[in-house]
Amino acid sequence: MRAVFGLLAMMLGVCHGVETTCDGRHDGTECYGALRGTVILQLMDDATEIFRYYWMKESTIILHGGKHRILTNQIANRSSFTPSNGTIRINNLNRNDSGDYTLKIFNSTGQRIERRTLQLIIQAPLSSVKLVPECLSHGEMRVSCSSGGGDSPQYNWTMDGHTLMDSQPLSEHEETNIITLKQDMSGRLVCTVRNNVSEVSDKTYISTCGVETSCDGRHDGAECYGALRGTVILQLMDDATEIFRYQWMNESTTILHWRENRILTNQIAKRSSFTPNNGTLRINNLSRNDGGNYTLKIFNSTGQSIERRTLQLIIQAPLSSVQLVPECLSQGEMRVSCSSGGGDSPQYNWTLDGHTLIDTQLLSEHEETNIITLKQDMSGRLVCTVRNNVSEVSDETFISTCGVETSCDGRHDGAECYGALRGTVILQLMDDATEIFRYQWIKETRTTLHWRENMIVINQIANRSSFTPNNGTLRINNLNRNDSGNYTLKIFDSTGQSIEKRTLQLIIQAPLSSVQLVPECLSHGEMRVSCSSSGGDSPQYNWTLDGHTLMDSQLLSEHEETNIITLKQDMSGRLVCTVRNNVSEVSNKTFISTCGYISVKCIQRNGNYVLETSETQCTTTTTTTTTTTSLGGKETDTTLTTKPSNNVTASNHTEGSSHRGDLWSTQVKVYLLVMVGVLSSLLVFLAVGMGVVWSQSKTQNKAEDVRGDQDLTYAEVNIVPRQGRQVQPEVEIEVEYGQVRFAQRPQQPVEPPGENSLYAKVHKSR
Ligand SMILES: *[C@@H]1O[C@H](CO)[C@@H](O)[C@H](O)[C@H]1NC(C)=O
Ligand SMILES: *[C@@H]1O[C@H](CO)[C@@H](O)[C@H](O)[C@H]1NC(C)=O
Ligand SMILES: *[C@@H]1O[C@H](CO)[C@@H](O)[C@H](O)[C@H]1NC(C)=O
Ligand SMILES: *[C@@H]1O[C@H](CO)[C@@H](O)[C@H](O)[C@H]1NC(C)=O
Ligand SMILES: *[C@@H]1O[C@H](CO)[C@@H](O)[C@H](O)[C@H]1NC(C)=O
Ligand SMILES: *[C@@H]1O[C@H](CO)[C@@H](O)[C@H](O)[C@H]1NC(C)=O
Ligand SMILES: *[C@@H]1O[C@H](CO)[C@@H](O)[C@H](O)[C@H]1NC(C)=O
Ligand SMILES: *[C@@H]1O[C@H](CO)[C@@H](O)[C@H](O)[C@H]1NC(C)=O
Ligand SMILES: *[C@@H]1O[C@H](CO)[C@@H](O)[C@H](O)[C@H]1NC(C)=O
Ligand SMILES: *[C@@H]1O[C@H](CO)[C@@H](O)[C@H](O)[C@H]1NC(C)=O
Ligand SMILES: *[C@@H]1O[C@H](CO)[C@@H](O)[C@H](O)[C@H]1NC(C)=O
Ligand SMILES: *[C@@H]1O[C@H](CO)[C@@H](O)[C@H](O)[C@H]1NC(C)=O
Repeated sequence: MRAVFGLLAMMLGVCHGVETTCDGRHDGTECYGALRGTVILQLMDDATEIFRYYWMKESTIILHGGKHRILTNQIANRSSFTPSNGTIRINNLNRNDSGDYTLKIFNSTGQRIERRTLQLIIQAPLSSVKLVPECLSHGEMRVSCSSGGGDSPQYNWTMDGHTLMDSQPLSEHEETNIITLKQDMSGRLVCTVRNNVSEVSDKTYISTCGVETSCDGRHDGAECYGALRGTVILQLMDDATEIFRYQWMNESTTILHWRENRILTNQIAKRSSFTPNNGTLRINNLSRNDGGNYTLKIFNSTGQSIERRTLQLIIQAPLSSVQLVPECLSQGEMRVSCSSGGGDSPQYNWTLDGHTLIDTQLLSEHEETNIITLKQDMSGRLVCTVRNNVSEVSDETFISTCGVETSCDGRHDGAECYGALRGTVILQLMDDATEIFRYQWIKETRTTLHWRENMIVINQIANRSSFTPNNGTLRINNLNRNDSGNYTLKIFDSTGQSIEKRTLQLIIQAPLSSVQLVPECLSHGEMRVSCSSSGGDSPQYNWTLDGHTLMDSQLLSEHEETNIITLKQDMSGRLVCTVRNNVSEVSNKTFISTCGYISVKCIQRNGNYVLETSETQCTTTTTTTTTTTSLGGKETDTTLTTKPSNNVTASNHTEGSSHRGDLWSTQVKVYLLVMVGVLSSLLVFLAVGMGVVWSQSKTQNKAEDVRGDQDLTYAEVNIVPRQGRQVQPEVEIEVEYGQVRFAQRPQQPVEPPGENSLYAKVHKSR
């Protein structure tokens, strides 16, 4: 059945009656009228063109007329029929007006040419509703929405503007008048009750049920806080079993009376429990009436009052959710409001990037109010925390600089322009508007700007924009996300012909706020650095080390366009992370030094261990051992990563002495890694025999073989910056020595030596 009805005016007050309208020109329409109200029914288009009509309720003719005459109106005293538009207005509706009505239309030859039915339903309008929340034992909240009267109420619940989802209420469905909300739900709860002739609603701020607070009331003058609908645990005394008699009174009413190990009176027995042996009273489902001053009087067995203490119980409604709303002011300041949905005595506390706001960051307002005005160029993670004595709620948002100004040339078709959220964009739409007869600037289908004959006819955003006709520039302030979209400029000549059409895409981005650089050493001396911008749209990361974009060869795994990179070992210098989007750029820098590991490479050349990059020999002078590996290969290629015992200092660095401290002051640990090839060489040595080995040692290494320890071959280990910073003339790095022991059999690749294995030693065995 097609129900076409309209609610014209809702409650005009019960005295005046509710007026409803209904288009009854279709067969089978359902129309609603309010009890004691008025209904306006359109029965036909124009009765003056109809030869004869009858409007009947069941078999009673209500209205009968034809041409310009009304012959019968049974309810004339409370209705009026307007033939020219076929509308009947019936006042003072009563329940008997309900029913099925039939309209019959006849032509001049007496033939019935049409017959339509209409069902009129009279409903009593709803009177006011009231929301009553109540906490249940497990922290759920039952809320009832009771209407004072009215027919066919339909309930609809919303929380903070959103229809309650089945996941939020418990058990009951959201179309009933009683719902049970899950634990920890809070916000603005609205119950709307509708029927076909009226709508009423009530709202309340609900806060978490069953907030439990406790308070030590054993000293006189204690101040205790309890949460509305929550529980308070009051310690009134140490041990009641040692007390002969006490009375706990609110004003002059005795709430609790104890005598000789027995509770004689408990006025609030059904929602409280007293534990005598620790003197603790637990009161549930607190109401505002529980607030007040309580007095405890303790008597001894002879009836003498031996102690008297007062306690003030203060009931506060817990705070419900808060919401932060930032807004840019004209000079680039930002006003932010923190509005709590409800709760008693809210105390506001603001932090930006974890630090309490200081007066120098604020204009005029103090940081303990719910509205602050931040100075220009403040950005970061803003948190508003609202507390009272029984609860705490908070909201946070990333704020970025207000009033970022961007400009864009929109004179070509398909221009992409970027504007900053809450900022200003300057769009050049054309060269000179004064030479254009008419143009329209349309967003999707809506005309934003309309210019005609040297005048702005329409400017939808006039309150925050200005158009300069002689250079065709439109300046839009206080941009919001809804300004994003595709705009079309249509230019017309004086004959109304469209002569040009261009589109422009405006993209609104939140500017980036500050970035934080956090370096971290990984287990093998690699360094992971994260660069995190605390807010803003579409961040693009760019890393430089000592002014040069990082190359893939300097990185492990990750690419340089992410916000987390892993640098290879022994990278150091001035690391800058720059984050950009189309409306802003922020960067942060840090000086990184190695994570304590340096890789050097020794190769065997002519039987000597020398640094790969020079003829400097890899020699050793000391003592502790490490393991080695070797495999086949003509030229032995050994990578040594050594952790030294002595401080390793560099006399200079390629990036200039100003950063030397940062780079090299830390103790450099050198870890010796002997790679593929060493063992093969050893096997060759062994095959040739000990004599050969000795002679080689003596001839090649006699200068270095200072100790004459014939079991040892020494390797000189240099600290060599890798990758793009090969040993350069000005780099003078103190040489460390590693004792290299040649093993007979291949061993596993070396592990990083322990804290006290300071030198690498390769032992040459027989
Ligand atoms: C029909 O005419 C009456 C009297 O002029 C007017 O009050 C009413 O609004 C009209 N109804 C419609 C639906 O146009
Ligand atoms: C009246 O309606 C009948 C049936 O539709 C039709 O035959 C007749 O011609 C109509 N008379 C006039 C005067 O229109
Ligand atoms: C409840 O009311 C809201 C807002 O008026 C509406 O969006 C929603 O569809 C309604 N839900 C039901 C079940 O009627
Ligand atoms: C007192 O005893 C009750 C019951 O054993 C216990 O639940 C409560 O935690 C105790 N209170 C204190 C303050 O010890
Ligand atoms: C309770 O006592 C405090 C302090 O003595 C006083 O400020 C307050 O007004 C009293 N409250 C009531 C409800 O009497
Ligand atoms: C009760 O207290 C009064 C006053 O402090 C004292 O004189 C009396 O001896 C006490 N009685 C007992 C039984 O302790
Ligand atoms: C605000 O909260 C922070 C963190 O909880 C705290 O350190 C600071 O003292 C508070 N400031 C005020 C004015 O309450
Ligand atoms: C256009 O004119 C206005 C007002 O004189 C000026 O502020 C703006 O900078 C000009 N824009 C361009 C692109 O020249
Ligand atoms: C605007 O146009 C661009 C390019 O034609 C398209 O990718 C984009 O989705 C459009 N945006 C909107 C909001 O229609
Ligand atoms: C740079 O990062 C450091 C460490 O995260 C931070 O303390 C500092 O405030 C940042 N500097 C800027 C200008 O954002
Ligand atoms: C990173 O920034 C530098 C310096 O601004 C620039 O030369 C380089 O091209 C940028 N790299 C990328 C990938 O954007
Ligand atoms: C490294 O040098 C510093 C400063 O010269 C000194 O305090 C420290 O003890 C040295 N460390 C070792 C392990 O020798």
